[in-house]
Amino acid sequence: MQDQLIIFDTTLRDGEQSPGASMTQEEKVRIARQLERMGVDVIEAGFPAASNGDFEAVKAVADTIKGSTVCGLARAIETDIRRVGEALQGAESARIHTFIATSPVHMKKKLNMSPEQVLEQAVKAIKWASQYTDNIEFSPEDAGRSEVDYLCRILEAVIDAGATTLNIPDTVGYTMPDQFGGLIKALRERIPNADKAIFSVHCHNDLGLAVANSLSAVMNGARQVECTINGLGERAGNAALEEVVMAVRTRQDYFTCDTRIDTTHIVPASKLVSGITGFPVQPNKAIVGANAFAHESGIHQDGVLKHRETYEIMRAEDVGWAANKLLLGKHSGRNAFRNHLMELGIELDSEEMLNKTFARFKELADKKHEIFDEDIHALISDEVPIFQERYRILSLTIHCETGETPHAKIIIAEEGQELQAESDGSGPVDATFCAIEKILNSGTDLQLFSVNNITSGTDSQGEVTVRLQKSGRIVNGHGADTDIVLASAKAYLSALNTLYSKLERAHPQV
Ligand code: KIV
Ligand code: ZN
Repeated sequence: MQDQLIIFDTTLRDGEQSPGASMTQEEKVRIARQLERMGVDVIEAGFPAASNGDFEAVKAVADTIKGSTVCGLARAIETDIRRVGEALQGAESARIHTFIATSPVHMKKKLNMSPEQVLEQAVKAIKWASQYTDNIEFSPEDAGRSEVDYLCRILEAVIDAGATTLNIPDTVGYTMPDQFGGLIKALRERIPNADKAIFSVHCHNDLGLAVANSLSAVMNGARQVECTINGLGERAGNAALEEVVMAVRTRQDYFTCDTRIDTTHIVPASKLVSGITGFPVQPNKAIVGANAFAHESGIHQDGVLKHRETYEIMRAEDVGWAANKLLLGKHSGRNAFRNHLMELGIELDSEEMLNKTFARFKELADKKHEIFDEDIHALISDEVPIFQERYRILSLTIHCETGETPHAKIIIAEEGQELQAESDGSGPVDATFCAIEKILNSGTDLQLFSVNNITSGTDSQGEVTVRLQKSGRIVNGHGADTDIVLASAKAYLSALNTLYSKLERAHPQV
């Protein structure tokens, strides 16, 4: 029998730690449902101790997902572990993931603890976690820069205490593939009770080696890989799920294990995560980039037409490139709309919300004849805002004419009050943002403005991402509309709504 390679997705936790990638509870549940459909074994839903909102989001995922294990992250401290235990109470299958740093630099400079104290704390953490579940994962943070002898000691102790998965993180993306593979091999050989736990890896992509390091670890006996959709994650991100899964699936002649992932769900998952976070996928990104299966040069096209395998090692349809189906049009009724939402794993809280989104859908269908899944996801993200919206657009008028200065007039609602302003600008978007700033005077710094078409064609909705920074806090806002200036205004206000939500969250690793 071939070994199973466990796929542990951390898009909702490490992925969400990317500045500006925060997701609403509803969005997290939507992504979790897609991961479950795809056959992901373990979904890391978040860090419940970060805030009440994070706790509720992990709980909502745990209460919803039936086909995957739901995991929550905790530092090796009792209050964190109890929060995870409580958040996961409704899960069909739950896992607690606890971690503490083990590299000399982290123990000394971050934790101010001796190696003996760290070891003791790790063992205590496993004991606290075992009051809730016997599915316990332990990570020695910054294992890639930790001393191997010490790793052997602490890992042996946590297995004895009840840890069932040992996750070896290359937290700062520092190791080289043969070195990291060698580390996994050494740990498996030298830890006396190593056979009682599954070895997992969690690689960051600072040197572009996250997938290579993960695969090298798999060749050396790791049987769980932690990864994220589109490689989202802290700094340069984590190993990309789609690349790990497709490497192992495509090279079955090389690997002695396989995953249980239904790969036809990969592209829809990639689009969903990109749409929700506003992090676009680069066109030449492996597997999920728009050009990943496109053949530009005449020689390649000729080869592919004659015999596909000349230049293609995978089939586009096997990773879900054909999955984007035309679904609804302007004549579709409320029931068809509701049923399709259910197929997409979207549950709205109330009939009122359904009516509101159905009305928005009809408006969109009037402007755009073909409505795709991506349009529906964008519409839902627009309609179910993260935080209580403080500002909302009531109207936007733009004047643009060749040779004239663009001019915008905007009316915004703020808690029942109507505020309006007008401004010129270098273009219609600039004029709109200047008009908003005349009203709100936010003092923010615009760090990113990007527009992407959600589907193809000039009638596509434009999806705009705006990133604002104020006093070190970074927030993203998204807006979608067939009118990209309106989409830009929505994105700008959505970022400001997030900024003013005063949401305080703790970061697990800082
Ligand atoms: O990168 C890391 O070390 C982590 C741990 C919490 C597993 O994300
Ligand atoms: Zn990480």
